[in-house]
Amino acid sequence: MRTQVAIIGGGPAGLLLSHLLHLQGIDSVVLESRDRGYVERRQRAGMLEQGTTDVLRETGAGERLDREGLVHHGLELRFDGAGHRVPLTDLTGRTVTVYAQTEIVKDLIAKRLEDGGDVRFETEVVELDASAPSVTFRGADGVTRTLDCDYIAGCDGFHGVSRPTVPGLRTFSREYPFAWLGVLADVPPSTDELIYANHERGFALHSLRSPEVSRLYLQVAPDEDIAAWSDARIWDELAARFATDDGWKLREGPITDKSITPMRSFVAEPMRHDRLFLAGDAAHIVPPTGAKGLNLAVSDVIVLARALTERYANGSETLLDGYSDACLRRVWRAEHFSYWMTTLLHVDPAADAFDRRLQQSHLAYVASSEAAKTSLAENYVGLPIA
Ligand code: FAD
Ligand code: DHB
Repeated sequence: MRTQVAIIGGGPAGLLLSHLLHLQGIDSVVLESRDRGYVERRQRAGMLEQGTTDVLRETGAGERLDREGLVHHGLELRFDGAGHRVPLTDLTGRTVTVYAQTEIVKDLIAKRLEDGGDVRFETEVVELDASAPSVTFRGADGVTRTLDCDYIAGCDGFHGVSRPTVPGLRTFSREYPFAWLGVLADVPPSTDELIYANHERGFALHSLRSPEVSRLYLQVAPDEDIAAWSDARIWDELAARFATDDGWKLREGPITDKSITPMRSFVAEPMRHDRLFLAGDAAHIVPPTGAKGLNLAVSDVIVLARALTERYANGSETLLDGYSDACLRRVWRAEHFSYWMTTLLHVDPAADAFDRRLQQSHLAYVASSEAAKTSLAENYVGLPIA
């Protein structure tokens, strides 16, 4: 079998790439290792930059996002028992939107199938050739086939098969001495805007999914045993970390999903080898504080779709040759911002009293300085796509 672009991975990066290419008349096949239900239910990101919502809307994949997405104009930094608002829209003219990654994935799968797209679930990649491009895979029917193509897009996330096939990649990484315990709860959010809280017991984040569903995160140890966290213990810990001097109350409700995510920073350079292009988490990871991962995956595939469009329109490979550099400039800015937000807000178990005082001073400065808040805001809402 043959296609123009073989896409490995049916997460947000792979599905959006397939959608964007289709709109330019370019054929692709998406090979996803998991089943459809699994990818549609995997709880992850929720905060979208305006550049991300713009592309979904402009390409006809934003109908439900427009109906159900919650547009936000600010966020709260909370520390020392008090909240400090960062007015994102006043400072940047831009907004962010809460709309879960699960919903984007559902919308994009539905759109690809409606448009006659070829998305194959439960496939296993057996071999990948980046120079005479082809992907050999075993399908859900157990049959092994070879998909010949012009280009391969490795959109298969951090644990995928694409990146390990690239010889001589240079990698950069940082592990953090903490993880996030994330919960989804059937309870109306106790806040209209996200709260990023720093407390001596650790970081906590209050996010949301809808007027009826809250999404909350707690900093925990990297080797934390999830079984040690009963629902009651989670609510007690959240209440302690979000507590304010003016008696703000956290509403509690049934927890419907619970998981622990390790935190790391990682970049692989370059994001291209021969005719294989890496995009999204396959090429880079950020710690989740600041919500950059999904948005970076989206900006990578916007750049890749443009480059492939130029190649098929007039034969020029100029944009394809510039793909890795164009993406990495934005990736490294997001890497720095995510690292900065993470160290600003988390408690490092190895920190001494001096480190803690520096962190308190840093928080007080960000909360009180228009310049510092503007810097946070412009990174948070997302810098322009190359
Ligand atoms: P993935 O979503 O990982 O998709 C890769 C796909 O490839 C998967 O479907 C996988 O099953 C498939 N795959 C893997 N191996 C193979 C294989 N061998 N063959 C075929 N398919 C394969 N980002 C934000 O922007 N905002 C947020 O608010 C945010 N919050 C987060 C909160 C948490 C708790 C976590 C864990 C992440 C968060 N992120 C956030 C990050 C975001 O979820 C990821 O960056 C995003 O999923 C990247 O998309 P992707 O398509 O590159 O990779
Ligand atoms: C969410 C996740 C984040 O990492 C973040 O910074 C903001 C929101 C979320 O899942 O809603």
